[in-house]
Amino acid sequence: MTVWEFATGTASQTQQLAEQLARLLRAGDLVILSGELGAGKTTFTQGLGRSLGVREGIISPTFVLVRIHPNLPDGHNPGGPDLVHVDAYRLATPGEIDDIDLENTLDSSVTVVEWGADRVEHLAANRLEIELVRAVGGHAPAAGPAAGSTPDPAVGPVPSGILDFADSFDTDEDDDEPRTLRLQAIGPRWDGIDFSVLGRPVNTTE
Ligand SMILES: Nc1ncnc2c1ncn2[C@@H]1O[C@H](COP(=O)(O)OP(=O)(O)OP(=O)(O)O)[C@@H](O)[C@H]1O
Ligand SMILES: [Mg+2]
Repeated sequence: MTVWEFATGTASQTQQLAEQLARLLRAGDLVILSGELGAGKTTFTQGLGRSLGVREGIISPTFVLVRIHPNLPDGHNPGGPDLVHVDAYRLATPGEIDDIDLENTLDSSVTVVEWGADRVEHLAANRLEIELVRAVGGHAPAAGPAAGSTPDPAVGPVPSGILDFADSFDTDEDDDEPRTLRLQAIGPRWDGIDFSVLGRPVNTTE
């Protein structure tokens, strides 16, 4: 199985990668997003939504677990799939995942699940697993780790709603930083699909 890695330097580049990916997506597809708080999962989903031509307003859900963004009949992709955007951060048990009934919309939508790793794989044999990773090692920004963006491991992660709130005070949160986007395609649906249409990969590993 191939792992594709792409570099992105800014939030808008991350969205452009997502826009390219969206061109490959169709109803029934499941995209599992992982990466630490503030890694860019919602930013990426916004790019997907734009390219899919669905209703706008993709935000980090605070207490809403699932948002359905219907395809816009008068948008640029009429008849395309809806986008179901899930934040599984607070979903701990398989029962809680089942309760939100993603199966119901899976076939007619592109389903994107933030914090979906180890939670929703059972929903589909075919899926894309995408991890957003802050640049590490020699590529760390000169100023050191972004203030407030890395949860103290002793305290545990901060719910995304609190980070959203902090955003309005902490402009550092919006500074563009390099990320690596790591993509793994699982299942026969993706056999032979060339993800270099997203952009030139910085690395591919078999
Ligand atoms: N290269 C980049 N790619 C994506 N986002 C970036 C990048 N550089 C800076 N950012 C900023 O990082 C933040 C990412 O926030 P976002 O809400 O997308 O993260 P998230 O992974 O969804 O977080 P959460 O786990 O809280 O849901 C945004 O403020 C965005 O502008
Ligand atoms: Mg988010």
